[in-house]
Amino acid sequence: MTELVFPPSFLWGAATAAHQVEGGNSASDWWDWEQRPGTPCRDRSGVACDHYRRYPEDVATLAGLGLNTYRYSVEWARIEPEEGAIAQDELDHYRRMTDAVREAGLTPFVTLHHFTLPRWVASRGGWMDPGTPARFARYCDTVVRALGDRVDWYCTINEPGVVAFGGYLGALGFPPGTHDAGSWERATAGLIAGHRLALAAVKAARPAAKAGATHSMNEWVAVEGGRPMMEYLRRRNEDVFLEASDQDDFVGVQTYTRVPVRLGAATTALLRVALRSRRVMRLVLPPFVRRSAKDPGGNALPGSRRTAMGYEFRPEAVAATIRRAATLLPGREIVVTEHGVATDDDAERVEFIDRGLRAIHAEMEAGLPVRGYLHWSALDNFEWALGYGMRFGLIGVDRSTLERTVRPSARFLGEIARTGRLGPGAAAAPAPR
Ligand code: BGC
Repeated sequence: MTELVFPPSFLWGAATAAHQVEGGNSASDWWDWEQRPGTPCRDRSGVACDHYRRYPEDVATLAGLGLNTYRYSVEWARIEPEEGAIAQDELDHYRRMTDAVREAGLTPFVTLHHFTLPRWVASRGGWMDPGTPARFARYCDTVVRALGDRVDWYCTINEPGVVAFGGYLGALGFPPGTHDAGSWERATAGLIAGHRLALAAVKAARPAAKAGATHSMNEWVAVEGGRPMMEYLRRRNEDVFLEASDQDDFVGVQTYTRVPVRLGAATTALLRVALRSRRVMRLVLPPFVRRSAKDPGGNALPGSRRTAMGYEFRPEAVAATIRRAATLLPGREIVVTEHGVATDDDAERVEFIDRGLRAIHAEMEAGLPVRGYLHWSALDNFEWALGYGMRFGLIGVDRSTLERTVRPSARFLGEIARTGRLGPGAAAAPAPR
């Protein structure tokens, strides 16, 4: 393998989301979801990583590693805990935090919505309520004006497809926990409208900023007759949201794995018929989705290596997704806003980064306009319904003391960021096709 060189302006960073790291997000729907009887959540978020108070230390660590960007989210439930009641002290908090990020030499990359809603929004139906998009845009306007010229990169909504699929079709144990296709369709429409209004609000408040949604994208493969279902899922979970990003300044791509979709011959024939009818699909799909959600890696190719999430270990999946993003939104700048692996063996994380970056670099050589790589995650954190068992962090967090440990993978990524170079042979395994 040869040494790879990345452009000097490349964004190199790590990402977090407020609810997963801050702690005490008690005015949000997720907080309630974690406490309620029969919750699908394995843990409560509780103090999380106490990043709300410890961000100065964490930001200094990220900068010290050599990274130049930090992606984090602002929490709507903190800024507007009751409708129309803007918490000035919370705006001040995020202003101070953003100043600290900049003073450390990191570019702030701010997400305005990362899975959580204020309780009062959720109680009206969350993204199914036709009033939510405008309320969300109003909150975005408040935040963007408060942060002013401190921020040049905004994500409006993180993974709208996952919010819709995971919460409103009941696939991932996210709130509100509806299970029917009608709720899924209403939430999809709400998220698309919310993104469009938020994009306009961000651009109006800060025209110089680059804004866009960030998208969960898998490398999809159809095996054994799975093509019609694969295309249907990709369209409904990804493409419709990417198409709604046609006015965005960049496309954020977030990729963890490859997902094969297989169906037996009889099912496939039935499915071809079902796909022609929206009414039939609305009955067929929810149970199919619930079954596959119980075992996320259940579809992985036989014998494939798995991550702690049960996903296929497939760092190169990101090459397929950035190619697809470039096909759907030709010429648009691409930022890999998440790419990461849950593992208890940090050597696997080093390998994941190394192989992922080689795959991305090859696509850049072939002409794709990739502008940055933000690893998920900066810290071990609250992995939603799966709780604290999944370790995604470049920096480990001890659950009893909250003490941080900088892992070798963090130094590995930091060194690439500092030099703009990925040396030959860092990770053992050759990239599979
Ligand atoms: C989300 C993160 C999550 C990560 C790992 C992404 O879908 O944006 O919040 O922790 O994947 O599963």
